[in-house]
Amino acid sequence: MYPVKIGICGLGTVGSGTLNVITRNQAEISARAGCEIVVAHIGARRGADIDGIKVSTDIFAVAEDPDIDILVELIGGTTVAKDLVMAAIAKGKHVVTANKALIAEHGNEIFEAAEKSGVCVAFESAVAGGIPIIKAIREGLAGNKIEWLAGIINGTGNFILTEMREKGRDFSDVLQEAQDLGYAEADPTFDVEGIDAAHKLVILASLAFGIPLQFEKVYTEGITKISIEDVGYAEELGYRIKHLGVARKTDNGVELRVHPTLIPEKRLIANVNGVMNAVLVQGDAVGPTLYYGAGAGAEPTASSVVADIVDIARSLSADPKHRVPYLAFHPHALNDTPIVGINEIETAYYLRMSAEDKPGVLSQVAQILSDGGISIEAIIQKPPATLAEHVPLIILTNRSLESRLISAISKIEALENIAGEVTRIRVESLG
Ligand code: HSE
Repeated sequence: MYPVKIGICGLGTVGSGTLNVITRNQAEISARAGCEIVVAHIGARRGADIDGIKVSTDIFAVAEDPDIDILVELIGGTTVAKDLVMAAIAKGKHVVTANKALIAEHGNEIFEAAEKSGVCVAFESAVAGGIPIIKAIREGLAGNKIEWLAGIINGTGNFILTEMREKGRDFSDVLQEAQDLGYAEADPTFDVEGIDAAHKLVILASLAFGIPLQFEKVYTEGITKISIEDVGYAEELGYRIKHLGVARKTDNGVELRVHPTLIPEKRLIANVNGVMNAVLVQGDAVGPTLYYGAGAGAEPTASSVVADIVDIARSLSADPKHRVPYLAFHPHALNDTPIVGINEIETAYYLRMSAEDKPGVLSQVAQILSDGGISIEAIIQKPPATLAEHVPLIILTNRSLESRLISAISKIEALENIAGEVTRIRVESLG
């Protein structure tokens, strides 16, 4: 059978990993694809010398190359990468990309162009690295109404939180290590401020709920304000702090939010550590399902890139109309369910404040919460350190509307006996 020819653009962590996996596992990959998979052209701006493979420093030469069937975009970013992908589509080439920012921000336009050209755009490696979560939701759960999904979908962030909890390490040291290990984005603020997780969440939510990609509507909070103190108090209360992406269908629409979250430590997902990712998906028929694996790194991500290449190679002889839709639902069947604003969501909350150590303060705080219709689930008050005027007061609330909680927090912060800001972290039971 005619060999399928691949052009890889970008020879960084994932590009090199992809080349290694294709070379090492050539026999298995070709046997699964039903044809030989050949890397025929590499686009690398700094050049490279690889035996038997044509290399261009102009990555657009790969899109123009008439020999190439599938262009693999691994350069990242949303400007040149978008032009490259659109150029490949215009030339009738199939595209595999690991670029979550590109899909989350420009996917609607890219899929429309691909549909017109009759080509595939595959992006398994864009979400949760080596976990085949796109395929699981798009195909494996096709019989379900998906109710919600929640995931640890940034390996760098999870690595940082794990090292802080287990070894008491400093945030910036761990981030540097994640960069050295090739986990972090080119701009690591994408990891620690939740932008990378938001990109991935948007993609998962589209697949789960049949809504267009709407990156601009995700509520995003990073992990930079998480302190060792909060990690410790959370443990005392029986929780772990994880950076979670949550997409949930409610009567009001779809919630799309990324933020630090307290999760009961008995949940499997609370025990997902290091660079590992995990996504919990709740379907009405299947119930809860959990997908776990390496969320970043050269070969785990390459594993998903190669799976997409094999999928496309297998489908080359099929009528494009019979391919699995890009976003799980057929383009004409996407719906316009609104995205719920963060003030309208309902969760439980962890609150930490610094209270003056004298009678009546706790009752004032409790009264404000009670007036706001917010009930208290647990309280920890630490004894004062010698001569300390303020003591940490930690409160776990029951579920409340976010807007009510925000209003209660501003009243608590205005109390004379409370110093500084109240720390607030959302709590999800995920049960
Ligand atoms: N920077 C990303 C992460 C890479 O840490 O999860 C994988 O998308």
